[in-house]
Amino acid sequence: MGGETAPWWKTAVFYQIYPRSFRDTNGDGVGDLPGIIEKLDYIADLGISALWVSPFFRSPMDDFGYDISDYRDVDPSFGCFADARTLIAECHKRGLKIVFDLVINHTSDQHPWFIDARRSKDNPRHDWYIWKPRTSPRTGKRLRKPNNWVCQFEFKSAWWDNEETDEWYLATFTRHQPEVNWRNPELRAAMYDVVRFWLTEGVDGFRMDVVNWYVKDAYFRSNPLSLNANPDIFQRHVYDRNQPETHEICREIRAIAEDYPGDRVLIGEIFSREPSIAASYQGNGDDELHLAFNMELLYRKWNAKKLAASIKKWYGVLPERGWPNFTLSNHDQPRHATRFQSKNPATQKKRTQIAAMLLLTLKGTPFLYYGEELGLQNAKIPRAELVDPTGITFWPLPMGRDGERTPMPWNADPGAGFTDAKTKPWLRFSADVENTNVRREQNDETSLWRWYQALLGIRRSHQSLQTGTIEFSFEGQRGVIAYRRQSAPEGEAECPKAIDCYLNLSNKSRAVPSPKGTVLLSNSRETGMKLESKTLVLAPHEALLVIF
Ligand code: GLC
Ligand code: CA
Repeated sequence: MGGETAPWWKTAVFYQIYPRSFRDTNGDGVGDLPGIIEKLDYIADLGISALWVSPFFRSPMDDFGYDISDYRDVDPSFGCFADARTLIAECHKRGLKIVFDLVINHTSDQHPWFIDARRSKDNPRHDWYIWKPRTSPRTGKRLRKPNNWVCQFEFKSAWWDNEETDEWYLATFTRHQPEVNWRNPELRAAMYDVVRFWLTEGVDGFRMDVVNWYVKDAYFRSNPLSLNANPDIFQRHVYDRNQPETHEICREIRAIAEDYPGDRVLIGEIFSREPSIAASYQGNGDDELHLAFNMELLYRKWNAKKLAASIKKWYGVLPERGWPNFTLSNHDQPRHATRFQSKNPATQKKRTQIAAMLLLTLKGTPFLYYGEELGLQNAKIPRAELVDPTGITFWPLPMGRDGERTPMPWNADPGAGFTDAKTKPWLRFSADVENTNVRREQNDETSLWRWYQALLGIRRSHQSLQTGTIEFSFEGQRGVIAYRRQSAPEGEAECPKAIDCYLNLSNKSRAVPSPKGTVLLSNSRETGMKLESKTLVLAPHEALLVIF
């Protein structure tokens, strides 16, 4: 081996858990931390090496935990503080890494900081949030709202009344999520203490919520208008997002993380469809965030050319020392099994197999979303059952997020192994629990679950798939995406060096130049089969890995 080994987060495969929906151990219909702990062996069996757990901190749940009222405690609906400690310890016992969700762009309006801050202008914490006067000190007249910034989840002005001080405060998700003032040094220090608190408890890093919203324009200028409705809400977010000062915060948090041993990782959610913006938060590749989500792929439909273009664009914009990561689904966007849906069940299965092979063989750290290993689809939630504030605001537009947050189906019994037989879960199950559940798929050799397990095993045992180079031979032409992963020349000599991946997203056979190797995995032919002819005919919707 030449050179140093890659840090764990470059070779890991992450699995995102939305804790409300994973496993409910006390029969209240809401998943909890003991439920995650109970299922860690499941996660390890699947072949996962790292977890990202969405927020479980104290919260009034106006945004289901993304509105935190105490960063250092566990919400009673999820368990207690000791459960968080046990979760970290039990992960580490199994060799799993675990990252928590760091939501520091805003707090809950029930956070003691905000309760203090809103009381009076003299309160030492007043300046920890963002305020504008409602009344002119000169004329005594009511002023107009400071600018046109919108509250994303309520589709109203982002400026909310505070009677006590006759001011507006800024909140751009729901009114219950006031934005903190990152320009205030004490606020900054308080947030950095939160970061240190969990690093000291032993978390392996953070997924950082809406990093690119931390700092706002110093002059609070109005955003120019745009025609994009989702996700931009008809504005170009020039002044309320992506301010240069945010990069300084990223560097400061990076320095804190580096004070701790064990390669703690920072993974940014950069809320933007523009990959170059996401990439900019990796700084020079070693001074800001280690990873940044590229949201573009989360919006892509079943289109080989567009998928390939997004992937290549992502590689192209990252800093030279940066590192790519990929995700197809998360708790904010429709699941890819639904986005890529085909009405034909056989095609549907093959599409999810292709998607899995793509995600798990590209160069870059993959992030799976719980349930995708089952082919779980979005649920259609009737209006009366909606709970997500966005879904309620925008109904009947399909902007709500409840559909991708439904409980994990562990088996087909009443309660689906998620909760007690008699308990109503906090959200209904997606349709088809009968066929789409862990128990059934684990017992079926041809299931998508087994496909994921096989792919994860292959990725784990081939260095070329983890850290090797990637070179494309098809970028969506005739519906085919194909690429070669190859270990660096100094890679272990006894390991086979190259793996070719062929993904036929079309419903027709496709001839491609054959790599002359051995089939590692395919959804259309036997593992171990030798490929010797000059051309290879891919079956419709074939996903194929060849080693040579
Ligand atoms: C992020 C989260 C989303 C949350 C929002 C506000 O986009 O992923 O779920 O509602 O931030 O915290
Ligand atoms: Ca529970």
